[in-house]
Amino acid sequence: MVIFGANGDLTKRKLLPAVYRLAYERRLPGSFAIVGNSRTPMSDDAFREKMYEAVKHFLEDSPFDEDLWTSFAANLHYVAGDLNDPKLYQDLGAKLAELGRRNVLYYLSTQPSYYSVVVGHLGTAGLGTAGLGTSGSGSADSKAAEPAQVQPGGWRRIVIEKPFGHDLDSARALNNCIHRVFPEEEVYRIDHYLGKETVQNIIAFRFGNGIFEPLWNRRYVNHVQITAAESIGVEGRGAYYQEAGALRDMIQNHLLQVTATIAMEPSAVFEPDAVRDERAKLLRSIRILHPEEVPAYAVAGQYRGFREEPGVNPETQTDTYAAATFFIENWRWAGVPFYIRSGKKLPKRVTDIAIHFNDAPHALFSSGDGGPPARPNLLILRIQPEEGISLRFVSKQPGSGMRLRPVSMDFNYGTSFGERSPSAYETLLVDVMKGDPTLYTRQDMVEASWRAVQPILDYWGSQKFDFPNYEPGTWGPAAADAMLARRGHQWRNS
Ligand code: BG6
Repeated sequence: MVIFGANGDLTKRKLLPAVYRLAYERRLPGSFAIVGNSRTPMSDDAFREKMYEAVKHFLEDSPFDEDLWTSFAANLHYVAGDLNDPKLYQDLGAKLAELGRRNVLYYLSTQPSYYSVVVGHLGTAGLGTAGLGTSGSGSADSKAAEPAQVQPGGWRRIVIEKPFGHDLDSARALNNCIHRVFPEEEVYRIDHYLGKETVQNIIAFRFGNGIFEPLWNRRYVNHVQITAAESIGVEGRGAYYQEAGALRDMIQNHLLQVTATIAMEPSAVFEPDAVRDERAKLLRSIRILHPEEVPAYAVAGQYRGFREEPGVNPETQTDTYAAATFFIENWRWAGVPFYIRSGKKLPKRVTDIAIHFNDAPHALFSSGDGGPPARPNLLILRIQPEEGISLRFVSKQPGSGMRLRPVSMDFNYGTSFGERSPSAYETLLVDVMKGDPTLYTRQDMVEASWRAVQPILDYWGSQKFDFPNYEPGTWGPAAADAMLARRGHQWRNS
């Protein structure tokens, strides 16, 4: 596994702890090795020392085994070099040849502006799929240079971190560039939300049970709310975040993938492309807004204090909060609003999906004190930090008369399974090594989700907002409440 950006935050916080954990559970192939790259000159030993500190620090709920680390660290290597310099790729090729591994996984964890640079150089150096000399890659670069320094006969895959492009056009351009070196089946665009156990469980819940699917449509579902709230701010990532904003950082990718999982049709078989076809179809069914509709369908927010964060322009118009109303134009969902929101510096960290069902068709019991709340039936899929599912319904309160009270039936992962869930990165790394792309996003999925947010990005790009418009520790701008109120709805802030 070649990690570009090996000195970066993601490698330290997520990748190395995940790989170490896989080693701990003996889920790595025996011949596994890592080659890290960044610009900083460093010996193999210095790299190992850095990773040792990182893994010990960021290995969340798992034990650290010093003996295991010693054998694990022996397979960590480091090649310093500038991503723009062709020599780096010659050095990498030589290192890979020296290690003699057949299969190579490239992991792009650099600044996104380097993605096409690295891929281009890999192609030129003969380190992409074309370097294998197989005929399996119709779109591989025929002009790739000779030196197939890596052992022939294996595979070359590439994992690309988000953001994949910064808008629809750049995502398309990046796809074209990658396909010159790696065919689509070897391209793994990672969206770590799809690797979360609780997101994978949406599929099990919907399609493994017979009782929910009949209700999962416009006849019974009134609206859906998808929330990814964070209490933290931008945590030293001001420079990156200022270019991205909440809509690009969370909604275009993570939350639209979650939406696709919630709303897609069942696939005929549980196979990678069958499942991905359904996700892609759903994303393509999202109604594309006209520019003049954007103010009524999307709300941007920025917390007070963002402009003072390090690396942030004091006049920035970047959104640290975004909320949008999407409609899915198909028979199952026509007319059902999907409200999606994400923000930094909100009151707490919570990601969940709330399916609000329609009221009972006839109100038998009067409302008022002790009466049923409006729209009592609510299904909450809790993604994090609580992991589970709750179903809310009303029940008769003990005592005389017919007084109703909402109650809840809860499933909790911890209590039911009592074991640690693998991190999203563990799951996704094993999948790419096995060659299973079910939980990775395909070119058409990425492009469809950019298409869905593009009118909002364009409109917001042309506006001058009166930012900041929400205080840290609150649920975002008042306009987001007004967006739901126009349809008689209200955010579920719990
Ligand atoms: C990342 C975003 O993709 O996801 C971050 O860039 C965000 O801004 C993070 O904090 C949230 O991930 P999780 O798994 O903590 O919900």
